[in-house]
Amino acid sequence: MTAPGPRQPRSAAHEIERYAALFADRTKVMKSSAMRDLMALTAREDVISFSGGLPDTSTFPPGFFTEIMSRVASEACAKALQYGPTEGLESVRERISDVMAAEGMDVDPDLILPTSGGQQAIDLVCKILLNPGDVVIAEAPTYPGAVPTFCSYEADVIQITMDRDGMRMDELEATLVSLASEGRRPKFIYTIPNFHNPAGVTMSLTRRRELIRIAAERELLILEDNPYGLLRYEGEPLPTLYSLDNDFVIYTGTFSKILSAGIRIGWLAAPPPVRAKLVLGKGSADLCSSSMSQYFIAEYFASVAWQDYVRSLSELYRRRRDVMLDALAEHLPREATWTHPEGGLFVWATLPDYIDTTDLLARAIEERVAFVPGRAAYVDGRGGSSMRLNFSGVTEDEIREGIRRLGEVVREQVALYSTLSGEVTAPRSAAAAKRRADPAPVAADESANQPAARTAQPDVTNVLPLTRKRAG
Ligand SMILES: Cc1ncc(COP(=O)(O)O)c(C=O)c1O
Repeated sequence: MTAPGPRQPRSAAHEIERYAALFADRTKVMKSSAMRDLMALTAREDVISFSGGLPDTSTFPPGFFTEIMSRVASEACAKALQYGPTEGLESVRERISDVMAAEGMDVDPDLILPTSGGQQAIDLVCKILLNPGDVVIAEAPTYPGAVPTFCSYEADVIQITMDRDGMRMDELEATLVSLASEGRRPKFIYTIPNFHNPAGVTMSLTRRRELIRIAAERELLILEDNPYGLLRYEGEPLPTLYSLDNDFVIYTGTFSKILSAGIRIGWLAAPPPVRAKLVLGKGSADLCSSSMSQYFIAEYFASVAWQDYVRSLSELYRRRRDVMLDALAEHLPREATWTHPEGGLFVWATLPDYIDTTDLLARAIEERVAFVPGRAAYVDGRGGSSMRLNFSGVTEDEIREGIRRLGEVVREQVALYSTLSGEVTAPRSAAAAKRRADPAPVAADESANQPAARTAQPDVTNVLPLTRKRAG
């Protein structure tokens, strides 16, 4: 007699039906993270993926990792293997305070709450502030990983257009006036002022001050999400919102992009009454963040010139960004536009509006290249002809080849559109081709990609502060 085999998985639809009556109402509005789905889809070795927000962890010396872990083992083995306080280890809060000081913030470690990544920080803020139907203001586009979080707390997310200076304050104020006329007040304004994910733009100082003024006048909380502030490749650092005001700003940071995403440690800094609620929310979520990771952080930031590592990452990512901007200029058709990020990990590209990037992705994966379709960064279906391109997790050669493949599938769509519509899309000019081949004019032309030169670009819903390809 043969032993019964493992139970065969049933169809997903059948399984959902079986349990449907048990699920909470909020699961109806839960979404999966587009990026998480894509990571599975694009994990194939032969796909060049611009879809993740991955730091290049291969740059961290394995010998140094061993050294830190063996110090943790010899000095704090039992504690690292034990539960820790929900409020996080004191030594870690102190090191976080040092990292915040590197961005001009003077913060008492007691106001800091280490979290399980910046993602948990967003989740906890939603958990303590949102009732179903409450309004959250976010940028358009916004961080694709925040969209499922906002949805799972049943928030009414209103997205405010961005231009080259970040979130538009005129639109924000008009939205707040209109909400007030309905007796509604947003619970918080979510913003990524530095090297926005996915938009790649940085909020200007004037806008930062205006945002603080608006929040203070109306007593609104701001959630400032700043994973990338230390990864600046050009230009001068700007003060964080938290350094301009810490009464109305809740700040979140993370070690994911400056050290390791796998360590899963981020943090919040918040006014004491808000922090107290966040601690309660965290306790019920996971008791405490990983003690092992926290001991690693405490050792690492106490013992090395961590800023040198951040500088080396910045140098590496700056080169990759430049390679991507050059490759885009070479391979995307003239109708495409994209941003020129001064730091961070992403370029936001927008194609002609007859191209749907969600559909394009299937075709791109056939050509072994992937990106995040723009719709993932909106709650309302906008962003259909945009895409987010990551440049930190891929080598320079992969960027060149991946953008070449992407250019091919985009051009295929443009040609198809011309055939079907009878419209002729302008070919690249010979002068443009020459400029690409000639380093000096290319460098001069590159200034057209600098933020200051982008003022002439239109500012429409899903087209950001944009740089048109410099060739053509
Ligand atoms: C804007 C933003 N916030 C939060 C996160 C989450 O980071 P963590 O890995 O620390 O959870 C990310 C990650 O890409 C991000 O880009």
